[in-house]
Amino acid sequence: MTQALTGIQFTGVGKSLPQRVLTNDQLATVVETSDEWIHSRTGIRERRVLGPTENLLDLALAASEQALCQAGLTALDLDLVILATSTPEDLFGSASRVAARLGAVRAVAFDLTAACTGFVFAVGTAAQFLRTGCYRTALVVAADGLTRWLDWQDRNTCVLFGDGAGAMVLEACPVDQLLGLELRSDGRGADMLTLPTTGETVALMADLAVRNQQYAPIYMNGRDVYRFAVREVPVVIEKALHRAQLRSDQVDCYVLHQANQRILDAVAERLQVPPDRFATTLDRYANTSAASVPITLCEGWESGQIRSGSVLVMAGFGAGLTWGALVCRWGRVSP
Ligand code: UT7
Repeated sequence: MTQALTGIQFTGVGKSLPQRVLTNDQLATVVETSDEWIHSRTGIRERRVLGPTENLLDLALAASEQALCQAGLTALDLDLVILATSTPEDLFGSASRVAARLGAVRAVAFDLTAACTGFVFAVGTAAQFLRTGCYRTALVVAADGLTRWLDWQDRNTCVLFGDGAGAMVLEACPVDQLLGLELRSDGRGADMLTLPTTGETVALMADLAVRNQQYAPIYMNGRDVYRFAVREVPVVIEKALHRAQLRSDQVDCYVLHQANQRILDAVAERLQVPPDRFATTLDRYANTSAASVPITLCEGWESGQIRSGSVLVMAGFGAGLTWGALVCRWGRVSP
């Protein structure tokens, strides 16, 4: 008798960053700041930035190809592609373009926006399609180009962000490797971190006016977002761990959204876990929004910090407000 494929396994990860590096010292020539301030407050030393003619979808494509290759699959195997992004190249969505360029002609593709929590929300969404038996193979790709939406004179925000993409392959399997999942949102805190619309009124005719709309640069109340993250992220991780029936010390590696090293350290302290169990790429890539979790996961895999069978916590938090955590066992289940 064949077993029902109602579980999920995590079989491939990939990443892609723009070539161009922007260091803290270089930024200090643009805006009043210093390497000392940025590094001591955030852990960031440098970030990668998309050039004016570069395309975010190229990064999404490269990350996806690496993840598929590691999973031993081709794009034709994919049933579902979810692109987690707040910065699509086209406001109508970019997922179907990524799928088409990959050659994933069988897959249905759509965008999902949940800011810096986008990757975790997208994995949670893909998981539902796999668990119900609707699809067997899914690609979640997270790509963001937030440096294109910064006010480079606002030192409260412009020093924090970088661009990048990461991707992960999920496959249906009999023994579920997604051990716990908890997603949260609260729009009452939405004003803390926004990339808002701006616009002007245009009179179409004497008695009919419309609005011509654009986007303003990112605004963030850093202190409030910091307090929110340190308060809520440990709670949502504990809830996901409770669902997985695991304790915090049974997790091999924590892969959290990379916003601030001090947030990672505070969460580690609250969970009573040594800080070196928290993977970090903040120093090199800064905050790449939805992409930061899969980029950090990929580096953890490449460095050997994460192995097949490792128990992982992935967690995101950010605008919306949104936050969430999942617990999983990494790698392909042996048949
Ligand atoms: O990805 C979404 C989630 N985002 C986050 O989780 C970000 C959460 N927030 C943070 O990481 C931190 O709040 C920041 C890194 C954004 C700021 O760190 P902080 O320790 O909270 O600094 P602060 O905002 O309290 O500012 C302290 C001082 C201020 O000067 P005064 O008012 O004390 O004289 C700022 O004007 O530092 C000043 N400052 C800077 N100085 C040099 C702010 N930005 C800079 C800068 N360089 N880039």
